[in-house]
Amino acid sequence: MATPTVFIAALSLAVLSAAASAAYTNYTVGGNSGWLFNDATNTSSANYSAWAANNTFNLGDYLVFNTNSNQTVIQTYNLTIYQSCSIDDSDGSDTFQYDGGVTSFGQAMTIPVPLTIEGTNYFFSDADDGVQCQAGMRFQIKVNHGSGLPPSLNQPPPPPYMEPPGPGTPQSPSSVTTAGPSGNGGVAVGRNVPLTVTLIGVVTITLGLIRFV
Ligand SMILES: *[C@@H]1O[C@H](CO)[C@@H](O)[C@H](O)[C@H]1NC(C)=O
Ligand SMILES: *[C@@H]1O[C@H](CO)[C@@H](O)[C@H](O)[C@H]1NC(C)=O
Ligand SMILES: *[C@@H]1O[C@H](CO)[C@@H](O)[C@H](O)[C@H]1NC(C)=O
Ligand SMILES: *[C@@H]1O[C@H](CO)[C@@H](O)[C@H](O)[C@H]1NC(C)=O
Ligand SMILES: *[C@@H]1O[C@H](CO)[C@@H](O)[C@H](O)[C@H]1NC(C)=O
Ligand SMILES: *[C@@H]1O[C@H](CO)[C@@H](O)[C@H](O)[C@H]1NC(C)=O
Repeated sequence: MATPTVFIAALSLAVLSAAASAAYTNYTVGGNSGWLFNDATNTSSANYSAWAANNTFNLGDYLVFNTNSNQTVIQTYNLTIYQSCSIDDSDGSDTFQYDGGVTSFGQAMTIPVPLTIEGTNYFFSDADDGVQCQAGMRFQIKVNHGSGLPPSLNQPPPPPYMEPPGPGTPQSPSSVTTAGPSGNGGVAVGRNVPLTVTLIGVVTITLGLIRFV
């Protein structure tokens, strides 16, 4: 149960964000068609390029992907990566994956992606080894400045973890960077990004041995 302090803080935050959000828009990608691909017919459920061309986008707006885990949501600022329909050649600095934390096929997901960088943003699904992307699961948008980023999205991502130098240890290059631009919730993907190993909790039940003397 929330304490009164937490409640008041939440209330003021809600009032503040209601006032601020008027300037920003959430766009549902593909409208009612969602972000989906039909494997049987090799077709996307909407013409996403036509959808994108029909809207104007500003910093602080969100793209909302109503999809399932048979599709992926990749955001990149790199035309070469976009055209390749693959994240394999990304250097880890300009390409982000949003998976909603789902790891099995066919799970419904709603993925909000904030627009935090002005200029051309590219989106695609790299599922089915690029087949989805080649068959229409991709689009590009131009993000205008609009009112600029709202404070909620204007936080710098936390600095990368640095191993404190031990006595006499030569400094090794530190390379951990996984947060997206302005902490957008995406995970940087590419060749140089260290793999994150998700440990699935393993419950070990130890049975006590009863010794009869
Ligand atoms: C837009 O989506 C974001 C992320 O889900 C949410 O926090 C925000 O309240 C939404 N804004 C509006 C105007 O619906
Ligand atoms: C879909 O397209 C891919 C690549 O072009 C092809 O390999 C596959 O056979 C197609 N599937 C169907 C059902 O047409
Ligand atoms: C999708 O829409 C674009 C822009 O309106 C058009 O040029 C293109 O031919 C359409 N693609 C398909 C597969 O219908
Ligand atoms: C573009 O917007 C108009 C007006 O809102 C709508 O009628 C039309 O269906 C939209 N086209 C696409 C491809 O989303
Ligand atoms: C796009 O990515 C490729 C592959 O990582 C890289 O060689 C290229 O420099 C990038 N382009 C830009 C404009 O950053
Ligand atoms: C998702 O993909 C799996 C494996 O290819 C398939 O069995 C399932 O029918 C698909 N689900 C949806 C909702 O498309």
